[in-house]
Amino acid sequence: MNEQKNILFSEYDMDGLSLRNRVVMAPMTRNFSPNGVPKDYAPTYYARRAQGGVGLIITEGVEVSHHAASGYPNCPNLESNDAKKMWEKVVNEVHENNSSIFCQLWHVGGIRKPGMPPNPEVPGFTPSGYVRPGKKVAHEMSHEEIQELINIYSEDTKVCEELGFDGVEIHGAHGYLIDQFFWDQINHRDDEYGGTIENRSRFASEILQAAKSNTSENFKVGIRISQWKQQDYDAKIASEPHELNEFFQILKSAGADFVHCSNRRFWEGEFEPKGLNLAGIAKEATGLPTISVGSVGLDKDFIKLYAGDHKTQTVDLKTLHEKLNKSEFDLIAVGRALLSDPDWANKVQDGLEDQIIPFDRSFVENYI
Ligand SMILES: Cc1cc2nc3c(=O)[nH]c(=O)nc-3n(C[C@H](O)[C@H](O)[C@H](O)COP(=O)(O)O)c2cc1C
Repeated sequence: MNEQKNILFSEYDMDGLSLRNRVVMAPMTRNFSPNGVPKDYAPTYYARRAQGGVGLIITEGVEVSHHAASGYPNCPNLESNDAKKMWEKVVNEVHENNSSIFCQLWHVGGIRKPGMPPNPEVPGFTPSGYVRPGKKVAHEMSHEEIQELINIYSEDTKVCEELGFDGVEIHGAHGYLIDQFFWDQINHRDDEYGGTIENRSRFASEILQAAKSNTSENFKVGIRISQWKQQDYDAKIASEPHELNEFFQILKSAGADFVHCSNRRFWEGEFEPKGLNLAGIAKEATGLPTISVGSVGLDKDFIKLYAGDHKTQTVDLKTLHEKLNKSEFDLIAVGRALLSDPDWANKVQDGLEDQIIPFDRSFVENYI
């Protein structure tokens, strides 16, 4: 094995949480949890990725315990005893196979469509009633509702610690609720949750602070963010370097243990084509553990999956090794490649990249 590959498969100490390598399973919604309860296969599904060599698993988005959190069918939550029992099994199986696991906590905000079962009368919750710039279509959250949600995130984080998870990842990316607060094009609030970058980040900051103070010191609480939104791939939280630095500083001051920066293509610089990517900027600004992501080992980004062009070819990991060698970021999340091949990490480590099973949409529809 060459020296470059050693970095990808070298241990990483996330402030006391020891990971056996730098490979993270990206959070991926699977819609296989009727009534919020993961199916019996879920522990095996996650354990297979742990057996396949992944150091840290981030679960699919798990809805926080709020009546408007849900936006898609059959997503899991933490509400019933059955759901909790299944998550406990997932955690145990993953730990038995030598990996760590974080639960991704998710609220879709205004992405929730009116009329969605099981509570069709519940609207989408948003900072100002907007899902995208233009027409007001959703519910504008009151100050009290913001406080209530911060408590819910904090209580659910506590539940995750009780279930044995090693940490939680607060889903602050991709145009869902927390990102709707970050985004100045749709957050028009004139209270302390709107306006400056500091104010737009306050909801996330208070969630992080509340979740940290409700759990033990070694339990990890981090956040996933993205510049892009599903409503607009060119949208940004911050388009100037100084503003982006300030944003990451705010997350650090709020107590984030790690930052996961979602890119569609990990090799793209944030401000210059060959410059640091978003995770690299987060790491430079804060020194916090950072996770990058985006088309690792694949020739197409994941949006193509939903645009009909879903078949992929496996590509080499040269650029990934180079970026890890330069310590641009600490960990790399892998999404689709782990849906089609649970043994992806072991195959890469053993130099068997030509045996990796390429991804196509059938691996989203099925649960292997
Ligand atoms: C089927 C599928 C479901 C996803 N669900 C989530 C999710 O629940 N939470 C999230 O933050 N990102 C989600 N994503 C985005 C992935 O975490 C990841 O950022 C994206 O797939 C890019 O990584 P890749 O190119 O390695 O697939 C999903 C992606 C896919 C393909």
